[in-house]
Amino acid sequence: MSGRVVILGIYVTDLAFRAERMPVIGETIAGSAFAMGPGGKGSNQAVAAARAGAQVVFCTRLGDDAFGAIARETWQAEGIVARATVVEGLATGAAHIFVDAQTGSNAIIVAAGAAGTLGAADAEAIEADIAGAQVFVTQLEQPVAAARRGLEIARKHGVKTVLNPAPALPLPDDIFPLCDYVTPNETEAAALTGVSIASADDARRAADVLLGKGAGAVIVTLGETGALLHSRAQSVLVPAFQCGPVVETAGAGDGFTGGFAAALARGDTPLDAVRFGCALAGISVTRAGTAPSMPRLAEVNALLGAGSAVSA
Ligand code: RIB
Ligand code: NA
Repeated sequence: MSGRVVILGIYVTDLAFRAERMPVIGETIAGSAFAMGPGGKGSNQAVAAARAGAQVVFCTRLGDDAFGAIARETWQAEGIVARATVVEGLATGAAHIFVDAQTGSNAIIVAAGAAGTLGAADAEAIEADIAGAQVFVTQLEQPVAAARRGLEIARKHGVKTVLNPAPALPLPDDIFPLCDYVTPNETEAAALTGVSIASADDARRAADVLLGKGAGAVIVTLGETGALLHSRAQSVLVPAFQCGPVVETAGAGDGFTGGFAAALARGDTPLDAVRFGCALAGISVTRAGTAPSMPRLAEVNALLGAGSAVSA
């Protein structure tokens, strides 16, 4: 069974450089690898959800250029229905990703380009798509006004709403009552609440702050520790799935959110959807790239069936 997911966010082309360390200002160092591929949190989440079996509509803006063409090829190959407006005179965005060759961890500069002009009107233009979905997902790489309008429209139609509050930004309090699920990582949860997070208990305290602001449930992703699902009904730490050496963690949060949304849309319980998202993300970090590293449904199911994590 598959569900329908609508995602509003940005596409950018990722330019990933691996090196033993970061250069300092004024310095040139040799990298050990370079790769170019599809990225942007919204588009990565769309790819993750589509590979996980959801029917996905993705709403964004592009430039009329070579990077925009990569976006369209990517969505077509994944069976994602694109609602992509071309903005004259603006380039499709790009991200510079530094990958630490020692640890697989990353530092990113993202320039949203054309997608940085997404606004409330873009969400309004896809109202029929949203109304026909089970789950609506958005993030914060495009202006908050677009995210807010999408959440409002989804609410109006009784569609479940997921806000992935990435990257870390302070947000107005009145956005949280529009969210059934908020999915920050540690840094984002800290930026939203002022609670610095070094443990699952800290994550619980931060999640409580967001519940107090009106979020329906909070899922704090905790990297190799797993993810905390925290609502008034339950508070469960789902352990991460360790499935091999970590190659690149960029996009892991997108794998989680896209997988969670796909599972929720097909009718999984929130806890099962969190487990599914954790398994999907656990596989993605063992591979290079962001969107290209997202696993398919059968791989995620095989990992879940193997029962290597999941104790609640
Ligand atoms: O979450 C990872 C993504 O963030 C990358 O694909 C990069 O494009 C940035 O937007
Ligand atoms: Na990856």
